[in-house]
Amino acid sequence: MSIQLPVSNDTSTPAVPVPQPIAAPFYIGRVLIDPPILQAPMAGFTNYAYRQIVREYGGAGLLATEMVHATGMAWKHQHKAEHPDRLWGVPEEARPLAVQIWDNDPEVMASVARRLVGEYGVSIVDINFGCPVKKVTENAKSGSYLLSVPDRMGQIIECVVAASAPTPVTAKIRLGCSPDKINANRIAQVVENAGASALTVHGRTAADMYRGQANWDRIAEIKSYLKRIPLIGNGDLKTPADIVAAFQRYPVDGVMIARASLGRPWLFHQAACAVRGLPVPPDPDLDHQRECLLQHYALILKRFGEPKASILMRKYSCCYAQGMPGAREFRSRVARINDAEEFFEIVERYFPRLSFLSPSEDSGNGSDEGDEESCELD
Ligand SMILES: Cc1cc2nc3c(=O)[nH]c(=O)nc-3n(C[C@H](O)[C@H](O)[C@H](O)COP(=O)(O)O)c2cc1C
Repeated sequence: MSIQLPVSNDTSTPAVPVPQPIAAPFYIGRVLIDPPILQAPMAGFTNYAYRQIVREYGGAGLLATEMVHATGMAWKHQHKAEHPDRLWGVPEEARPLAVQIWDNDPEVMASVARRLVGEYGVSIVDINFGCPVKKVTENAKSGSYLLSVPDRMGQIIECVVAASAPTPVTAKIRLGCSPDKINANRIAQVVENAGASALTVHGRTAADMYRGQANWDRIAEIKSYLKRIPLIGNGDLKTPADIVAAFQRYPVDGVMIARASLGRPWLFHQAACAVRGLPVPPDPDLDHQRECLLQHYALILKRFGEPKASILMRKYSCCYAQGMPGAREFRSRVARINDAEEFFEIVERYFPRLSFLSPSEDSGNGSDEGDEESCELD
């Protein structure tokens, strides 16, 4: 006998639209990434204060630290010094959390990974194979330099995987060292065969630095070279619509957002809504954005004290006002603050407010987007 569910004959009630998700959560090893939107590691920016704020808004399926130098961390441990500044907050903050490490010595990397897993209980150890900065590539033969020596990359990953098990290890790469040396397809196989649990690809080469456009066709090509592990695409995603389009056009399991979230930590929540097929909430109003900036400062001040907190806040504050109509004055003044008093005064006087804006500015004219003279990113 089968049980019959009652059938309603009432056709007058309008059907509630069922949200149509654009992309599904996925796993990195045993860690669920839900939603499939990751916060990128950014040296000098994605410290505990930034991560706390991102977490409050929600929407990032995985958060990541700044890149941590393995030899530096090992040295501090040997000399019984405090843990690196870049591990601020890591022991106690919420999970899942990835800590990114860089270096070129497999044994040192493994020893640091063992500690990150054993003592800090991190969810994922991520390895940086993408940094294009000379100090890292030429001087330390690390970061994106390692894309030119795939065997070495494989050794590093194998050692870190063995030291971290069962905690998953991931790799973050660029497409290659330069446009004439693109080898990401081959590198993807090295990464997978060495035991990594996910691959993130920034769609530029190291020589490109941040010029031009990220090449998402190249990222997509890599998918067919991976048999087992998820692919995360990264580069130039600025809006929830960009993120939806990336999932719709390219065979990626996840996407990673970096620069666009600086000063807009609510972007992850907006993107998560879009990816879940829900309406995208508007940006918070300017009063709320100012509160967010003040909260960021409070967290930085508590950790670093004066004057370091105010100096750090110069660049973070500039990110909050990035591209806002009427923000030019704020940005040029906040880029020179030295203490808390100056900071609060400048926020009070110059952080954009609706009442500051003339009708033409309010409609978007007079935006200072691209005005980077005083607030370069690292
Ligand atoms: C200021 C800054 C610092 C960065 N630091 C790191 C880092 O520590 N580790 C890393 O893997 N990538 C780092 N990146 C690269 C980003 O994670 C990301 O791959 C790149 O910015 C492209 O993504 P986007 O277009 O969303 O910004 C950094 C980028 C910027 C702008």
